[in-house]
Amino acid sequence: MTENRRSLVFLSAADVRAALPMREAVDAMKSAFAALSSGDAVLPLRSRIAAARQKGSLLIMPCSVPSRGLLGLKAVTVYDGNAALGLPRIQALVILLNGDDGSPLAVLDGASLTAIRTGAASGAATDLLARRDASTAAILGAGVQGRTQLEAVCAVRAIREAWVFDIDSHAAEVYAHEMRASTGVAVKAAPSAASAVRSADIICTATSASSPVFADADLKAGVHINAVGSYRPDVQEVPAETVLRARVVVDHRESALSEAGDILVPIRQGRCSPECIAAELGEIAGGRRPGRCADDEITFFKSVGVAIQDLAAAAAALDNARKLGLGTTIPL
Ligand SMILES: NC(=O)c1ccc[n+]([C@@H]2O[C@H](COP(=O)([O-])OP(=O)(O)OC[C@H]3O[C@@H](n4cnc5c(N)ncnc54)[C@H](O)[C@@H]3O)[C@@H](O)[C@H]2O)c1
Repeated sequence: MTENRRSLVFLSAADVRAALPMREAVDAMKSAFAALSSGDAVLPLRSRIAAARQKGSLLIMPCSVPSRGLLGLKAVTVYDGNAALGLPRIQALVILLNGDDGSPLAVLDGASLTAIRTGAASGAATDLLARRDASTAAILGAGVQGRTQLEAVCAVRAIREAWVFDIDSHAAEVYAHEMRASTGVAVKAAPSAASAVRSADIICTATSASSPVFADADLKAGVHINAVGSYRPDVQEVPAETVLRARVVVDHRESALSEAGDILVPIRQGRCSPECIAAELGEIAGGRRPGRCADDEITFFKSVGVAIQDLAAAAAALDNARKLGLGTTIPL
């Protein structure tokens, strides 16, 4: 191919959403996590640098999956104060390359892709770990991730009622209204975290909080928890008491033991050890470890988010976009 015929595809947020339905994203995450846990991926820990005037961070997340020809990276910014500017907390671009010759294949809006793949990871964990008869959900954090968390849970279980709690009660009301329309489930704003979680079979925490967002005593027996919010070693969303009594499953051991405050804080306090991690999700998806072992067991999936999720989701979106004629071709 001559220089001037080389091109890549750009997928906007709308293209990504149209090209990657949640149920397909859940399946893509199961197979990505299985590949990760069987040693098929090269996945360095992400690098994080403070961005301009310390207002936010830039995370660089590369990954290669040689057996699938996948190569690429996500550059993602996290700016906690962005809501006041009318901008999302998380913005990103995903770059997908041809693993065989290094050519650029696609650039995708990474904010929409992140929301879908983060929801889908919780969908995969819910499918593998939650009780089959789970029918009530609680979402803590009515932001961008909170929306795809509920969407993903509804994709894998017959949810009939969901409660949402946010410290911003207006955000919770808007969420409930929107999510009722998009999922068809009875979604209601709860007055407190306690009232949201008490009757929940499945809980998703997707907050920007830095200390636990519910009390262990409020949990129902047999609950499954997906926690996606904390990704710094000193930040917790889930009480240590819950971590200590739950079956703990992570997306990636090495990343969790570097970033997941929910697990690292109790380890630093001497209350548990790294062996409290029972499995990686991919070990369960790949059939090498069991999923839920008893109806009353509490299961806890801690996601810090890893680059193989972005690449697998981007590859699935690009594949579908080509079939659907979505995206913009840009000459290189
Ligand atoms: N694990 C992953 O792969 C992954 C991926 C993307 C984002 N995240 C993390 O998920 C979290 C949410 O991201 P987002 O994009 O949805 O942000 P967002 O700003 O859109 O939403 C966060 C919401 O949490 C609410 N909140 C804060 N403290 C709370 C508390 N104690 N109880 C209830 N609600 C509370 C805020 O009011 C806000 O509405 C962030 O911490 C982000 O870093 C994780």
